[in-house]
This record gives sequence, C-alpha cells and structure tokens, in this order.
Amino acid sequence: MILRIKGTDTQYYIQTLCLIFFPGAHFSESEKPAPDVPEIEVSVRKEDGTYMVYTSMKLGAKFVEATGSAVPSEDIKDEKRLEKIAIGRAIFSAGKALLGYTNPWGILTGVRPTKVANEIIKTGAGVQKTRRILRDEYFLNPKKAALVVSVANTENRVLKKLPDNLCSVYISIPFCPSRCAYCSFISYAGEKLLPLLESYLETLLLDVRHTFAMIERRGLRVATVYIGGGTPTVLNEKQLARLLDTVGRCVDVSSLMEFTLEAGRPDTITEEKLSIAYAHGVTRISVNPQTLNEDVLKTIGRRHTVDDFYRAYDIAARSGIPDVNVDLIAGLTGDSFAGFSHTLDRVLELAPSNLTVHTFAVKRASNILRENNKVYSIVGGDVGKSVEYSQLRTKASGYIPYYMYRQKNTVGNQENVGYAKEGREAYYNIFMMEEIHSIFGVGAGAVTKLIRKTEGGKQQIQRIFTPKYPYEYLRDAAAIREGDEKRASLEARVNEFFEGN
Ligand SMILES: C[S@@+](CC[C@H](N)C(=O)[O-])C[C@H]1O[C@@H](n2cnc3c(N)ncnc32)[C@H](O)[C@@H]1O
Ligand code: SF4
Repeated sequence: MILRIKGTDTQYYIQTLCLIFFPGAHFSESEKPAPDVPEIEVSVRKEDGTYMVYTSMKLGAKFVEATGSAVPSEDIKDEKRLEKIAIGRAIFSAGKALLGYTNPWGILTGVRPTKVANEIIKTGAGVQKTRRILRDEYFLNPKKAALVVSVANTENRVLKKLPDNLCSVYISIPFCPSRCAYCSFISYAGEKLLPLLESYLETLLLDVRHTFAMIERRGLRVATVYIGGGTPTVLNEKQLARLLDTVGRCVDVSSLMEFTLEAGRPDTITEEKLSIAYAHGVTRISVNPQTLNEDVLKTIGRRHTVDDFYRAYDIAARSGIPDVNVDLIAGLTGDSFAGFSHTLDRVLELAPSNLTVHTFAVKRASNILRENNKVYSIVGGDVGKSVEYSQLRTKASGYIPYYMYRQKNTVGNQENVGYAKEGREAYYNIFMMEEIHSIFGVGAGAVTKLIRKTEGGKQQIQRIFTPKYPYEYLRDAAAIREGDEKRASLEARVNEFFEGN
C-alpha cells in the first residue's frame, strides 16, 4: 500500500486504521502505483483547537475523499485523543465509501478498548452515556459498545480495594511439541529442540530465584504467578516438579491470589503432571482444544484429536485444581458458524470456570499464511456470527466477559474475550491487560513491565526485554559471570525505575 501522511506523528495509529480495510498490507511511500495497490493520503491540520483531517483513497479506478474533525468537549478533552478521533473519522468514512465495509469496532484501534471506556467512565459517565459516546464518537456498533463497557465495569469491580504494593511474575516456557499452523509465538517446536529444555530449565530456575529475591528486596508482594508458553506442560514430570518446587521455595504459594500453569496442548497433559501441579499449589490451568472439529484440528496442524482434549479435560477436572480455562478460536481456516457453535456448545457442557474465545488472527510468521496468502479477510465469512453467538451463549450459561483485547489482522476485525463464572475471573489477565502493577517476566521472550505512580500521580511504565529465543537466552547465561552481570544490571534498572523522580 502507498501511504502518505502529512501533519501528524500518529503514523502507527493510521497504519492500524488502514489495516482494518486492507488486512496484511505493507506500508510504503515509494511503492510503484498499480491497479491492485491501494493509495491512501492522510493530511492533518489543527486550527483554533479543532483537528481537521482530509483523506483520499484510491484502488484501481475507484477514488474517494473524506474529511473528519474533532473539537474539545466536556466528554473528550485530551489533545491526542481528539486528533486520533478526527483521523479515525476521516479514514473510517473513506474506507466505507471505497469498500462498502463498516468495521464493528469503528475507529477504536491500536488502543485497548477498555482503556478508552474507562477514560469515559472516569468523567462520571454512566453505562448508557459511555455506550453512547463509544457509538457516536468512536463509531462502535452497539453490541461492541455494550461489550466493552461490561468488561470495563467487571474489571473495575475485581480491581477495587487492592493494596498498592502488589506485583506479578510471568515465567516463560517457549517450547511446544510441534508448531500449530496459525501460531507465530516465538516458541521452539518439535522433538529435536526438546533436549534444549533441560539446560533452559537450569538457567530459568536461577532467574526465577533471582527475580523473587529482587521482588522481596523491593518490598513488593507477589499477587499472581503465571507460567505460560508455548506449552509449559511440555516439561516432563520431573522438570515440572523442579520448576514448581523452585517457585514454592521463593514464595508462599498459599498467599498468592492466583497461580496459573498454562499447560495448553491436550497431548502434553498427564495425570501425574496435574497432580504435581495441584500439590504445588497451582490454582488455574488451561486445556485448549481451539476447536472440537476434527477436520479443522488437522487443517491447523494441532497434532491432537478431539478425544485427546476430552481425556485431558477429564484429568484437569479431577485434579483438584480449582479453575480450568479452555481456549477456543473463532474463524479458523476451514471452520464455519456450524462448526464453531458445535464446539462452544460441547465445551459449555463441561462448565469450565474460565473460557477464552479468540478470533483467528492472521500472523505474518504463521505457516498457514505461507501456504495460503488469501486467508486475510475483513468480513471473515460468518466469524461475526460465531463471535456474537459466543457472547450470547456464554451469557445464557452464567459467564461474564472479564477481559478483552484486540489484535491486528483478525478475520472480520473481531476481538478476543475472556469469560468467567462470576467470582472466578483470572486476576493475572486483568493485571496484565490493564497495567495495574509491575509484572516481572522470567525466561526467553518474557517482558518485564515496570509500573509506578510518580509523586504527581502520573503512571510511568518501563519495559525490559529478555532475549527472544532460548538459544540467545542461554548464550547470555552460558558464561556464568555474564549471566550474573545481566541479573545485577536488571536489578539496577529496576531500582533506578522505582527510585527515580
Ligand atoms: C500463547 S498461546 C499458548 C497456548 C498453548 N500453547 C496451546 O496451544 O494450547 C494462547 C492462545 O492464543 C490463541 N492463539 C494463538 N495463535 C492465535 C492466532 N493466530 N489467532 C487467534 N488466536 C491465537 C490460542 O487460543 C492459544 O491457546
Ligand atoms: S498454539 Fe500453542 S502449541 Fe501451538 S504453536 Fe502456538 S504456542 Fe505452541
């Protein structure tokens, strides 16, 4: 796509808006014009406090123009927000005129929907007014506006009255038994890489100990621990016991608000692993089929069957671990509304306390895209119907949506929503999404996100990245001295962040 922008530094936001209409597009100012290459121009001006935006879009012989503006009001005063609304309005109108497509999430993109809803709620707006602003100013369709307000209110209820010295810990196991075709997680997949796990675990345990000790020195209290992946249950029984034992020596697990072991792939879950998890105080586990359609499981290269899921779920349900989550994906290649609704109905019969419904996002690094570059879709077949069904059906079964996020290039521009039985919401997901407190990431690919309030009451955030790939991560730790230096420098950065002005 040829994208020319003038008068603004919101390039990333403009790109995400363009992706709504042209998913998977690459951006350039100098690409050669061609009938199938969209050309978009965006120009922003500010006059007497009003943002005014002009947009043109050209695709083949079709050319459209649109404008958008935004003025400060009682409800929206923030300059950056106003600029984005004006840009959004112009691009939304032009895209609609060019392609006849209306995005269900309007111009709410490149930002957490609940963040915007909460900004409105904080001005004193009630449920109805917040929904109306989201519909009228951000062009959300009424169902999405209702969803995001409902999620924001649940989060606010769950987060009420938490002490302010909390933090959480994320431990990364970026390994999988094989790579699913839709996934782009930076995980090491396949039998050949599994031998690396043993040395990975050695280094990880050192870092786990160091991280908890550093947290204690800072006087923070660990609220939740999340072991995620990849597929953490790719660890064998002995390895899993070592990891959980180490966590248990670092923190009193009975004092945690939540202790999640993501597990994930049914083909890695055994009775012994889950009984080890239970004995070590794990309170939440995920068992993920993604779909209960055997043909779709094959298409997406999951390498397990529907029966494998039922077997693993049964082990989880009998393990004594209080919360079981099930991940599903709507809109998978080869799936349909009939297939998705069948999957959801069967999963709800099991009554897991948590259920997460993702929308298939086309990832640049996924195998599915390599095999078929036509998977991008703005309408997404009947995915909108599937997502809507999941919202109605979960509500009827006593679940509430408690956290949500959106990703780029999802089919039909839909969202990902976590549902829970009331009172069983997963705290970590809310803490992470809403940036409530610092999260210390341990292991390859884990990100530490430090959060603090300055004396002026402003929120400050700093991210510290760990090498993405296990090989790089291990290389850093290979020379013990170098590993030690890294750990010391991490702690120095953390201290500097918390003690700065
Ligand atoms: C970090 S992954 C790990 C889960 C675990 N390894 C498994 O596969 O069961 C968490 C979830 O993200 C979702 N996910 C992964 N890739 C996706 C994609 N391309 N589109 C939508 N959801 C995706 C899946 O539902 C998956 O269970
Ligand atoms: S979906 Fe899960 S098991 Fe499959 S490759 Fe991604 S992280 Fe690994």
